[in-house]
Amino acid sequence: MTQRNTKRKDIKPASEARMLIKNGTIFTASDSFAADILIEDGKICQISRGIEPADRDKVINAQGLEIYPGGIDAHTHFALPFMGTISADDFETGTIAAACGGTTTVVDFVIPGKGQKLSEAVSAWHEKADGKAAVDYGFHLALVDVNKEVLADIPGIVKAGISSFKCFMAYKGALMIDDDQLLQVLRAAKEQSALVSVHAENGDMLAHLMKRFAGEKKTGPEYHPLAHPADAEGEAVHRAIVLAEMAKSPLHIVHMSCVEALREVQAARVSGQLVLAETCPQYLLLSDELYRKNGFEAAKWVMSPPLRHVSNHDRLWAGLRDGFIQSVSTDHCSFNFKGQKDMGKDDFLKIPNGIPAVGDRVNLLYTYGVRCGRISRNQFAAAISANAAKIFGLYPEKGTVAVGSDADLVIFDPGKTGEVSVKTSKHNVDYSAFEGFKLEGLPAFVISRGKVASEYNKFTGEKGYGRYLSRKRFDVHGWGFE
Ligand code: URP
Ligand code: ZN
Ligand code: ZN
Repeated sequence: MTQRNTKRKDIKPASEARMLIKNGTIFTASDSFAADILIEDGKICQISRGIEPADRDKVINAQGLEIYPGGIDAHTHFALPFMGTISADDFETGTIAAACGGTTTVVDFVIPGKGQKLSEAVSAWHEKADGKAAVDYGFHLALVDVNKEVLADIPGIVKAGISSFKCFMAYKGALMIDDDQLLQVLRAAKEQSALVSVHAENGDMLAHLMKRFAGEKKTGPEYHPLAHPADAEGEAVHRAIVLAEMAKSPLHIVHMSCVEALREVQAARVSGQLVLAETCPQYLLLSDELYRKNGFEAAKWVMSPPLRHVSNHDRLWAGLRDGFIQSVSTDHCSFNFKGQKDMGKDDFLKIPNGIPAVGDRVNLLYTYGVRCGRISRNQFAAAISANAAKIFGLYPEKGTVAVGSDADLVIFDPGKTGEVSVKTSKHNVDYSAFEGFKLEGLPAFVISRGKVASEYNKFTGEKGYGRYLSRKRFDVHGWGFE
């Protein structure tokens, strides 16, 4: 596999002039302090009090504003061919929504077709993103076939900056791999210091339930959560943890939705195993009630894993606060209600799985995490940015506010209020999964490598400005492991 040239000549310089952000309060995952930030050539070059602007400097007065590292959404699916359609946000609309919502980096999943060569799938994703992305982006790679050729390609893929792999324990007959294959991937990835993420649901259990409901003519979207019980997630997380222990490999659980899964992660961590976990705003804020009271509109929230009982929310927030869950990404995989979700009007199994969320994540975490007193401002910086940067080999270029780091910032105005709505959303879909959620505090300025990418939800960046990020290998030492 050929290494992609990440220093392309046609990419414009990050910013012509310097930028000075004055009088703000900076919050990183570890510190809170008042200081000015000087930015040159897209990098932070000075942080101290009382920096005076030069004539050519663009100055942002951040008096009364809170400055965080730019958000990293490490779980998106842009322009993904999935369940007979293609997800509605591509790299252009998805990253514009990201930028307006405080996210300056996305890591999207390359998902090869069955039998497709990995290098071909990776090239196809570069084509989707190149010249379109408005913020920086990297890739994970899903391994949907596991054989000699695929395993032999892993070192080259990691060299090309894709240092994390996703394995599906669900979607039987499509994306799912079996335990033997997962073990092979864990071993091969470990050799390359790459990280394996799992979609942890017991695919056989799900397939059994789906078949049963189909036989009983239970075809409405309210059966989707019943075909994806929390026990099936807990079981798969447990099994993945045992397999990772056998392979002496770290493990990352994506889109963790319930206490049955969290308990397994907690037990593994307490027993000294390196297991990391991500959850998503939908699992912290939305519940399975939405499937019961909306008729076919419930299809808007059909995703895997599904929304869970409301009692899971507090447990997941506590897991985030206590460090068992490190990051909150979105699993953004958007489909229009009309024309896409309604493909499953007569059969919930045909509803494409996923929701739009990339533009809402940072806002929701700020309001319902920080402002509701569930997490501190430093924990917020960790959850939306720093931990994903550390897990996925982007730190400290991304994920913090420090001299030498990329000038990726989200500057919050804590005094502004708003509401999530399809009317103001930048997502390329006809509904919002979080319609009506009140917001306290909004991103005033979002800075991407020294350029203002958005100002109070107005996109001011540029399509194609985003650069491909070749990511470093997974660092176990950074997590206190040998
Ligand atoms: O419903 C979901 N999560 N759709 C996206 C694919 C995945 O499993 O992450
Ligand atoms: Zn998944
Ligand atoms: Zn996903």
